[in-house]
Amino acid sequence: MLPKLAIFGNKPRFPIGQPQYNTIGGAEKLAVSKVLADGELSGFVASASENFWGGKNVRALEDRFKARYNCAYALSFNSATSALHAALWAVCLDPGDEVIVPPYTMSASATTALMVGAVPIFADIEDEYFCLNHEKLDALVTERTRAVVVVNLFGHTAELQAIKTYCDSKSLIMIEDNSQAPDATSRGLYAGTVGHVGVFSFNRHKTIQAGEGGVAITKNADLSDRMAFLRNHGEAVAETFGFSSAANTGGLNLRMTEMEAAVALVQLDRLVDLNQQRIDLAEYLSERIENVPGLSGPKVRDDCKHVYYVYAMKFDVNVVGIPRDMFVECLAAEGYRVRAGYVEPLYRNQVYQKRIFMGSKGFPFSENSRDYDDCYSPDGFPVCERVQNSELIIGDIVYPPLISADIDHFIEDCCKILDQADKVRSHFMAHARQSHVSY
Ligand SMILES: Cc1ncc(COP(=O)(O)O)c(C=O)c1O
Repeated sequence: MLPKLAIFGNKPRFPIGQPQYNTIGGAEKLAVSKVLADGELSGFVASASENFWGGKNVRALEDRFKARYNCAYALSFNSATSALHAALWAVCLDPGDEVIVPPYTMSASATTALMVGAVPIFADIEDEYFCLNHEKLDALVTERTRAVVVVNLFGHTAELQAIKTYCDSKSLIMIEDNSQAPDATSRGLYAGTVGHVGVFSFNRHKTIQAGEGGVAITKNADLSDRMAFLRNHGEAVAETFGFSSAANTGGLNLRMTEMEAAVALVQLDRLVDLNQQRIDLAEYLSERIENVPGLSGPKVRDDCKHVYYVYAMKFDVNVVGIPRDMFVECLAAEGYRVRAGYVEPLYRNQVYQKRIFMGSKGFPFSENSRDYDDCYSPDGFPVCERVQNSELIIGDIVYPPLISADIDHFIEDCCKILDQADKVRSHFMAHARQSHVSY
């Protein structure tokens, strides 16, 4: 008799879905209750005083980032999006300046360039690691290019050193969006420390959870000042602080609360262990996935450390014999957090297709005479299109409280689907005919 699958009406592996990632424990609760007892829920004031720099937890968190990542400056923010926004603002771009970004990332990696009046120009990704392909940079750089945003995707670093060498040779600023890879390493250096600015995220899904929050690190005093001013109404203080380009400074409120900082401090102390739990599960899965024909686990570059924010698998339809979306739907029906592909590549977004971000006249695209037709056509991104349309499966399946037995079940369930490929296909085709879905 064939093994049972949830798509055929049997009990799913996780009847109420996979358990949530929740690592908030006693130490985090205690840290927040101390802030509440203290009553100072935020220490920030937008005036030229000590309080401009925030409260004691915020500053302690920044000190810990400086020490851990050996950089002179660290600034907390209310999100990684805000930190990226501040970093791009700090680069002091002119409207229509170009920022090179990978198209396969969370949208904020590119939208933050638009927010400062710059134009994201996308570079195709690497086939094996899904990060920006540094070999594409040279063909994209123009006299308007000012910065490159590199994303350390899924917990693994991009070719950071090669990108930094290239950026230095062209006097470009390199910003590492390291939201997904805290403590990953590249040739002995921490992710986030190779570029001119490195950005971290503490949102609900990230390895360090603080509800919301982010940090930007840098070794550059001027970039740090400008980020600090955008974070906290800088126009009100820049002159008093004697900032040389005070006229060129404005600010928002991108400040982190003391509660978030208190939680992030505890979680940062636990980061090595939080990562190790993911690494152990991922390595266990990588050994076993070799027994599943048509599926392969993530590759790790030489001399790099992957911290497995998610587990990125490649799917070979020619071996499996059913389309990727059917395979993923079978796993999802068992309760696994899996998805076919990652995100819609960003160039497909209407903002880029119609080339209007702000107002009605096409700003900021209107500020640059470039012919954009080549920039946002899917034809320019064959790797990204192939990976998203048919190859990649994202498994959010290597985080605690999942254990190695869950990985065994996952492999068992993948094999069950393969064993019944014909029956699975007929099931979906019958359903597709009824509901006009195409596979
Ligand atoms: C690569 C990447 N960049 C930026 C962000 C934005 O992070 P936040 O939610 O802290 O603003 C995320 C969050 O999902 C991300 O994964």
